[in-house]
Amino acid sequence: MRKPLIAGNWKMHKTLGEATEYVLGFRDAVADVVVVDVLLCVPAPLCSPIAKLLKDSNVRLGAQNLYWEPKGAFTGEISGPMLESVGCNYVIVGHSERRHIFGETDEMVNRKLRAALDAYLTPVFCIGEKIEEREAGETDNVLTRQITEGLKGFSADEIAKMVIAYEPVWAIGTGVTATPNQANDAHRVVRELVKAQAGEAVAEALRILYGGSVKPDNIVELMREAEIDGALVGGASLSVESFVKIVTYYETEATETPQ
Ligand code: PGA
Repeated sequence: MRKPLIAGNWKMHKTLGEATEYVLGFRDAVADVVVVDVLLCVPAPLCSPIAKLLKDSNVRLGAQNLYWEPKGAFTGEISGPMLESVGCNYVIVGHSERRHIFGETDEMVNRKLRAALDAYLTPVFCIGEKIEEREAGETDNVLTRQITEGLKGFSADEIAKMVIAYEPVWAIGTGVTATPNQANDAHRVVRELVKAQAGEAVAEALRILYGGSVKPDNIVELMREAEIDGALVGGASLSVESFVKIVTYYETEATETPQ
């Protein structure tokens, strides 16, 4: 059984004051959550103060990006060892906004995944097709390319340390969610690809999150799908109230399930 992981991705939102207020409320609201792992991926300048607020809590901390070199003359970039040193455990790699706004290629994503593992960070490796690719029937080919290129050179043991997030680009920030079926199908393709490279045991244990307009009112049906092991949540993670509802989706599920 894969333990679900519910991750928030704040993107470029919140100042230190706003973040502090959020984290104090959120940390207490999810203090009793044990059946899912909880992760907050915050902007880099907030990692250090938030790590202090989350110390001794059950909420894990992640960054949203890293550079592939551990140090050097790369003005403005942030390395894996820096993130690890301020208390991050996770880092998002290859988010579609990094790929499509900032031009990250599969090769760059591959190097960043390596840098994350080198710094003892768990990468949340993001993949997903654009709308024109889906409409052209290219979804599986795109996922195959992103997984094959992204995971090039990684051993089964290394892949076992990762999390994958399937985020169809057309569903991110648009209010349009993939149907649970569409997401489940894509996740199955991803798991098969991982199986081919890393073997059945690693593929079966790997957590594959869904991302793209996840909200309190669609998380339950998404999490019912066998292949969906959690969520990467952007907009709906920005308010404590909605993110707590998403994290505790299993409580809604329990009240909805007929006895
Ligand atoms: P969204 O973003 O939930 O706002 O669609 C998801 C993401 O980009 O990770």
